[in-house]
Amino acid sequence: MLRRLLSYLIPINVYQKNSAISKSIEVNWNNGELVIDSKNTNYSYGSLQRILRIGLKGIGFENIREMERILVLGVGGGSVFKTLVDEIKYKKELIGVEIDAEMIQIANDYFQLDKIPNLTIIIDDAFEFVLKTKKTYDLIIIDIFEDTKMPNFLYEKFFMHRIVDLLNNNGFILFNTMLLDEKHNQKNIAYIKEFSAKSYTTYSIPRVERHNEIIIVQKNNSE
Ligand SMILES: C[S@@+](CC[C@H](N)C(=O)[O-])C[C@H]1O[C@@H](n2cnc3c(N)ncnc32)[C@H](O)[C@@H]1O
Repeated sequence: MLRRLLSYLIPINVYQKNSAISKSIEVNWNNGELVIDSKNTNYSYGSLQRILRIGLKGIGFENIREMERILVLGVGGGSVFKTLVDEIKYKKELIGVEIDAEMIQIANDYFQLDKIPNLTIIIDDAFEFVLKTKKTYDLIIIDIFEDTKMPNFLYEKFFMHRIVDLLNNNGFILFNTMLLDEKHNQKNIAYIKEFSAKSYTTYSIPRVERHNEIIIVQKNNSE
């Protein structure tokens, strides 16, 4: 309680570990909220949770509640699952893929992610997972970061189209991106163009929490 109150004045660290993927993983009290941060950015809860909530609102909470299966690539501490289950009251199948087993341990220890009954966590590289999965999804959330870096495969056409192939008709991609320079901006423009050219409904929600841009793609019936 004291740490929580103090965190309105300064962030209070409760856990820290070096990480090959994220440089470091920290659990911090920040403005009265327990969050996960990597070395240079917020990873889970706090602003990250707000960013994905805005994306989910863009798709529509009612729409989401009706979906049969949702895939999240990049679990971190799992704050988007809390939004889906606690706020949206999503009750069907949830699958999360995370490359870093330690991250899941932290998610369970500090955020009780393992208490969500309809959630299955798979420890795997998201790229490998999407090649192997035999299921299809109504919503795929892509939220993959190595600290502030987005791995290149996210923008490769092979991966982009594989993700769309895994969507059911009228299904959505919600892609969280970080724009730190003009190169990132151009990559997002090309991403949107690629899917718009296929007549998928594609749009972005720019400057969500300063550096982030959310891209939403809907796979339309005609394809
Ligand atoms: C911003 S965090 C995800 C936050 C999470 N979506 C939430 O709702 O709280 C980014 C995560 O991507 C994971 N990651 C990085 N590369 C990955 C990969 N190739 N496959 C799966 N996960 C990856 C990192 O370990 C990190 O946990």
